[in-house]
Amino acid sequence: MEKIKKIGVFTSGGDSPGMNAAVRAVVRSGIQSGLEVFGIRRGYMGMIEGDIIPLSSQSVSGIIQRGGTIIYTARCKEFHEYQGRKKAYDQLLKFGIQAVIAIGGDGTFTGASIMSKEFDIPFIGIPGTIDNDIFGTDYTIGYDTALNTVVEAVDKIRDTASSHGRIFFVEVMGREAGFLAIRSGIACGAEAIMIPEKGGQFEKLRKLMAKRVEKRKSSIIIVAEGEEEGGATALAKRIQAEFPDLSIRTTILGHIQRGGNPSAFDRVTASRMGAAAIDALIDNQKSIMIGIVNNEIVHVPLNKSVKTHKSVNMELLKLAEVIR
Ligand code: F6P
Repeated sequence: MEKIKKIGVFTSGGDSPGMNAAVRAVVRSGIQSGLEVFGIRRGYMGMIEGDIIPLSSQSVSGIIQRGGTIIYTARCKEFHEYQGRKKAYDQLLKFGIQAVIAIGGDGTFTGASIMSKEFDIPFIGIPGTIDNDIFGTDYTIGYDTALNTVVEAVDKIRDTASSHGRIFFVEVMGREAGFLAIRSGIACGAEAIMIPEKGGQFEKLRKLMAKRVEKRKSSIIIVAEGEEEGGATALAKRIQAEFPDLSIRTTILGHIQRGGNPSAFDRVTASRMGAAAIDALIDNQKSIMIGIVNNEIVHVPLNKSVKTHKSVNMELLKLAEVIR
């Protein structure tokens, strides 16, 4: 097998705080290992279009503390088709890129897994998403920061909720996963947590709300956007219709959750994963994702991380009910 000299790194899908720290670690440890590192801008879109730039150690200075991604990101439909992936491969050949490090979530890894099979190019995945829904790692880059962003926001909402004796439905991100909802719910002392993974939660919520009407007490209900009733607005509407006396408000935290300076935890996780991705490439690994399990770096086959569902810890949901 030809010795790898030139590699590409890109970020793709929803950005997450700490992606920059991962890019920095990839570039600096790659250069230390004698590699030339290229930044592929705007994810798969930039790969198809050849939007590829050399990255030096200097070019990644001053970014470890910055949210977002300096090499930009995108969601790319064209890459779903073979023709798009072929164009992307041709661009990699043009730039002499022999292996790629992909920082992103589920969609990013699905693309990487398919492309590495079709074109025999090594891909190493680094999990970066605020959703924490990637199998094979305890934490994804950005999850901890987003969690703290939610907690800070909900603490503020709590002040006004209790002053007015109101019910607040607070929607957090997570189309398919309730990781952010569960942990933020516990950390904020939420009265209820609604997640996509658990059906039939409405009846319990209805009972809780009935008690709230009697006692005129405030509540925080954390709702993951993919929850079965359709999110915070839909839930609030249904509850309001059943309990017209309740004073209800809805807050959608939205993309605020994706921005901001990464937490120390995310910076360290990203740095460890970035360096581990380079080690894996030097070790001739291909089609794997770097994870951290029990604080140790692990390698997970990319297709396994894509195909296997990561389950939320239902015990935490029970805990939230016990201590609310
Ligand atoms: O996957 C990350 C995520 O932030 C999800 O939690 C959310 O549902 C989605 O991205 C939003 O995507 P977009 O920014 O493309 O609207």
